[in-house]
Amino acid sequence: MALPASSSPAEDSRPPPKDLSHLFSDVTKARVPNSLKQLYKYFAIPGIAQFAGGLPNSSYFPFDTLEAQTAKPQRWEPTPNDPVPGKDGLDDFEVLPSQLSRAHISPGPKTKTKDDALAAAHLIVPHDDPVTDPFRRIDLATALQYGQATGYPPLLSFIRQFAREVLHPNVPYKGGPEVILTVGSTDGNSKVLELFVNNWIEGKNDVRDRPSLVTETFMYPAVLSQSRPRGVNVIAIAMDDEGMLPYGPGGLEDVMSNWDYSKGRRPHLMYSVTMGHNPTGGVLSVARRKQLYALASRFDIIIIEDDPYWYLQYPSAEVDEARARSRPVPESKLVNPLQKKSGYDFVDSLVPSYLNIDTDGRVVRLDTFSKTIAPGCRLGFLTAAPAIVDRVLRIAEASTAAPSGFVQVFVAQALMGRQPEAATKAFASRSTKDQLTFSGWHTDGWVRWVAGLRGEYERRMTTMASILEEGSWQLKQSTPTRDSEAEWGVITKTQLYDFAWPRGGMFLWLHMRFETHPLWKVPRKSSSSSSSSSSSSSSCRDGIALIDGPTLSGALMVYLTHKPHLVLVSPGSMFSASDEIREETGWAYFRLCFAAESTENIDICSRRFVEGVHRFWRIKSVRELEDLVEEGSSDVVAAGAGEGENLTNLSAWMGC
Ligand SMILES: Cc1ncc(COP(=O)(O)O)c(C=O)c1O
Repeated sequence: MALPASSSPAEDSRPPPKDLSHLFSDVTKARVPNSLKQLYKYFAIPGIAQFAGGLPNSSYFPFDTLEAQTAKPQRWEPTPNDPVPGKDGLDDFEVLPSQLSRAHISPGPKTKTKDDALAAAHLIVPHDDPVTDPFRRIDLATALQYGQATGYPPLLSFIRQFAREVLHPNVPYKGGPEVILTVGSTDGNSKVLELFVNNWIEGKNDVRDRPSLVTETFMYPAVLSQSRPRGVNVIAIAMDDEGMLPYGPGGLEDVMSNWDYSKGRRPHLMYSVTMGHNPTGGVLSVARRKQLYALASRFDIIIIEDDPYWYLQYPSAEVDEARARSRPVPESKLVNPLQKKSGYDFVDSLVPSYLNIDTDGRVVRLDTFSKTIAPGCRLGFLTAAPAIVDRVLRIAEASTAAPSGFVQVFVAQALMGRQPEAATKAFASRSTKDQLTFSGWHTDGWVRWVAGLRGEYERRMTTMASILEEGSWQLKQSTPTRDSEAEWGVITKTQLYDFAWPRGGMFLWLHMRFETHPLWKVPRKSSSSSSSSSSSSSSCRDGIALIDGPTLSGALMVYLTHKPHLVLVSPGSMFSASDEIREETGWAYFRLCFAAESTENIDICSRRFVEGVHRFWRIKSVRELEDLVEEGSSDVVAAGAGEGENLTNLSAWMGC
């Protein structure tokens, strides 16, 4: 089923994307389209007799309707796109009309009060929709049937238009990108690896064929578990608070131009989280993107841009960080200098995707509804040059097929839905709130929804960052040691951690200053306590084991789980791109997520965290520290956490 084109090819003077098929894996090259599924395009012919496919009869599906109470797009209050200094005091919903007009979103007659915005709307998916246009027909008879692996047509067409016209209006190649729905970004990335990687086995395959992938020093760990078993050599590229570094020692150019071929093929893949980086919270500027893209083009690298947090960019972070540190407040700046705009001030105020500067067609972007709707949807989409999407489609046809019809139809109805009259009448007996006719969010509503989510997460970020900012130093009054200073009180200031206020995403990346702890490099009592670096020379002096960073990091993690602190954080080692990074610096970081806890807990638990860190810095007994390390290496959970049941899969959700 051909999707409607947004602009006619004749008017399109952009150069076509490059042919990058030489980078495809052998399996990809061998794939041919599924012959049976090619018949799907004929299904839409009105009146055609259906003797071809092995489709079950839709009248026997046991679901007559699907219904839900859903949020209105106005449920959450946005934050300003431009945090002009001194203009922080947003007065609840009074700011909304101006915000909305700036975002080119009509507030509508029903969004004037907070109560109204919080109310739910009723959504119904009927069994059969009389509409014949397959891009507008939303019903169970079609959504729960076998369908195209590109995705449920109405939903795909909405998302495709949103991607091409709102998210990426500047794509520089002819015809623009194509879109295919995925079962979330994890699935998308797995398909991209399948597309571009020839699996490699040590001892069996020639090392010169070993595939390599470059990524940031600290990275989303699921990618390691996806790529390493395929034999992929994951190479860390140096990064700063913004993201990957193009130049300088350990930067992309340095690694690529000095590539050591004894490690395998020079990398032809880059995996990067560029907006609200997981775990570091950085947002990669357009200027930096252009430099990295030029290098990717020079060294023939496919860029996998995985951006679940694109809409969570926090313009207030730089301003508030500067104020908190008594630095000059930066001028507001244009983060999207590209020519074409989406027409939505909110979207145009965000740093745009690599796709917008992708002249070659080498960017594969992964989006997901996991953070904009819910992770359990298992729904996302991949946007790339048509030849790449075509190959992803063949992988999907042979594996996941389309995402679940239940999810696709619900999301399609929420985004696009009209309510059939009969369905609305059937709910006449319900409460007034339930009877609200639901007409779908449409693009305005979707942009308003994600702008509201940005508001929620930005406020959480500010709460956590402000509390951590206040607690980053420990002040200690001590007695003067010299007579000449007898009448002076001596205050010692010790920095416990430092961090950049997150510019996006859901995480605050804390650099712990363990070297300021009173027990740093103090000889250990027991050599049996586990420490990942106990064998490293830096933690030994004259053959005696010393208390080092990994030991302090492990002990603090355990200490924080004790009462009264009761805080669990993710250790930086989980996000290290290699074993060397884990050993050298990974231990010095903690990732704190400000998304999952209730709003009140962000405040209370951030304070508990700070208090716990301060108390930990007062520990002077080596024995006490070693007991914590010992506890960390055993399976027993202190702090009255029950039996420790269901904790076996901890690492999986802590890393996400
Ligand atoms: C960078 C990144 N990519 C992908 C995912 C997972 O996305 P999905 O749920 O769509 O598989 C996460 C989730 O935390 C993430 O942080």
